[in-house]
Amino acid sequence: MSIRRLPPELINRIAAGEVVERPASALKELIENALDAGAGQVSVRLSAGGLELIEVADDGCGMSPAEMRLALERHATSKLPDDSIERVTSFGFRGEALPSIASVSRLRLESRVRGADGWRIVVDHGEPDGEGPAALPPGTRIAVERLFDKVPARRKFLRSPRAEYAACLNMVKRLAMARSDVAFTLEHDGRRILSLQPSSAPGRVAELLAHELDRHGVGIDCARDGVRLTGVISLPTFNRGVADQQYLFVNSRPVKDRLLVGALRAAYRDLIARDRHPIAALFLDVPLEEVDVNVHPAKTEVRFRDPGAVRGLIVGGLRRALDEESQRSAAREQAAAPVMWTSGATYDSNLIRHPRENGGPAAFQESGIPAFAGMTNAEVVAEDERLFDQAPAARAEPAVEPVPSYPLGVARGQVAATYIVAEAEDGLVIVDQHAAHERLVLERMRAARDGGAVARQVLLIPEVVELDEPDCDRLEGAISELGELGLEIERFGTSAILVRSFPAALGKTDVAKLLADLAAEIAELGGPLSLRDKLDHVAATIACHGSVRAGRILSVAEMNALLREMEVTPRSGQCNHGRPTWVKLGHGEIEKLFGRK
Ligand SMILES: Nc1ncnc2c1ncn2[C@@H]1O[C@H](COP(=O)(O)OP(=O)(O)OP(=O)(O)O)[C@@H](O)[C@H]1O
Ligand SMILES: [Mg+2]
Repeated sequence: MSIRRLPPELINRIAAGEVVERPASALKELIENALDAGAGQVSVRLSAGGLELIEVADDGCGMSPAEMRLALERHATSKLPDDSIERVTSFGFRGEALPSIASVSRLRLESRVRGADGWRIVVDHGEPDGEGPAALPPGTRIAVERLFDKVPARRKFLRSPRAEYAACLNMVKRLAMARSDVAFTLEHDGRRILSLQPSSAPGRVAELLAHELDRHGVGIDCARDGVRLTGVISLPTFNRGVADQQYLFVNSRPVKDRLLVGALRAAYRDLIARDRHPIAALFLDVPLEEVDVNVHPAKTEVRFRDPGAVRGLIVGGLRRALDEESQRSAAREQAAAPVMWTSGATYDSNLIRHPRENGGPAAFQESGIPAFAGMTNAEVVAEDERLFDQAPAARAEPAVEPVPSYPLGVARGQVAATYIVAEAEDGLVIVDQHAAHERLVLERMRAARDGGAVARQVLLIPEVVELDEPDCDRLEGAISELGELGLEIERFGTSAILVRSFPAALGKTDVAKLLADLAAEIAELGGPLSLRDKLDHVAATIACHGSVRAGRILSVAEMNALLREMEVTPRSGQCNHGRPTWVKLGHGEIEKLFGRK
């Protein structure tokens, strides 16, 4: 075996393997160079998804012929004037992109510095192929043709022009969001696709992301320890089957960082089904010394000095915004159909808040509902239950009395042993009893846990549950988290677990099944999740066990108690999987169904 130094041409091709994976990655490098050159306008032209042509023109600083020659050499950059790679503010800094692209395509570089003449250099698959004067406005124009023509291995992995075009479009959008102050145009096969004027970050995002985010989005703006997070995310109910509309930026650099993607997921945990994905455009501004951008050849990943703090800011900030919004959207819904309390006061759904958040009974006192004055939420629910136990409003009977003014109405019956049908002042409410109850149990467990007082049901004789060894190991590893939720367990030999108590919120429950599900849950969660995330997830699994199953017959009192508790519990409009727990058919809609309107 003889060791040899590789010729520069081969080195460039190897670098191209890392940097230029497909047309969209070459396009990314060219646009980033234009932005680094101070362009105010970037014009992109593509043919056949970039497979035939990628052309990027800018009105940036331009290059002299000597600089152009240097730019095409490897490790030549203007972006690290003082060797301090820790404080990079430009997109590029490796001095690799142009020579890499030129080694796997035919590249025409034209440039003109203001006040000088233009020049053109052509490189064909790494070989110089002529240079000479060029006519162009000040700035730079680079055309890349026949990408990977001589690299069959790469060519094989390219997808259809349509798929490559989709990737290119996505890349332009990402960079256009990163630099909303710059004008962008995009043409594909002679068709104008985008024409973006300089704008603010929110304006640009609104233009490029689903317009529906006007109605289904939540604005984000929070900061901690010099780190700021801004942007917009979708409500949990507005989601997608693929995670293709998540745009993340660190100091204006578009990234696909795993930490950030994971934090986004964690913020939606238990609000959205696992195979659904939110839409997001999030901008993280971090002091330069807190983040290393030199960890990935295509610069799409970064490393934070304190990943935990960044993750905490994102999960906490998004979660808070989503919680606040869920209360506001409940308010909007109610406002659309004004409901009056029995006292005659206008119903203020801002009061639909968790006792923990609004300081317990105070809100009810403030609400001016005389009957509830001075009572805790639990007492209100108990009182309801008492009232309805006495009330003759039996199921499936005509409503003879006026309907008390509850937002979710009074239970009139149960359908298919699964849905509660209730009559509200303004229409008919249908509730999915299992989905609703599951949410309530989860919120109760969370409130109890956060208040440090989880009621446990202690078993007189501890129950032994047999499980296979890996499952026992998983549960054993989570003993303290489960304990916090009221589930006290101990290892009992190699393949069994002893259960001493479980959360009282569960009522009667199949402990063996619960443990098996939890073990599966923990196995699936895996990864470096924070304790809190795990707890939330585990709580959701436990909640599911403790919930009223579909198929259980409920008494009128039980149904009404469920409705009343839903009215005072945050996030109760959605089950733990992001589906609605109730729907309302307004009087108008019912009339329409019968052709009365
Ligand atoms: N559109 C442009 N306008 C002006 N100068 C440019 C342009 N594109 C490239 N250059 C010059 O060419 C140099 C080399 O570009 P290249 O993309 O290869 O490396 P880089 O941007 O410095 O680093 P990286 O490899 O990380 O992108 C740049 O440093 C810059 O000085
Ligand atoms: Mg570059």
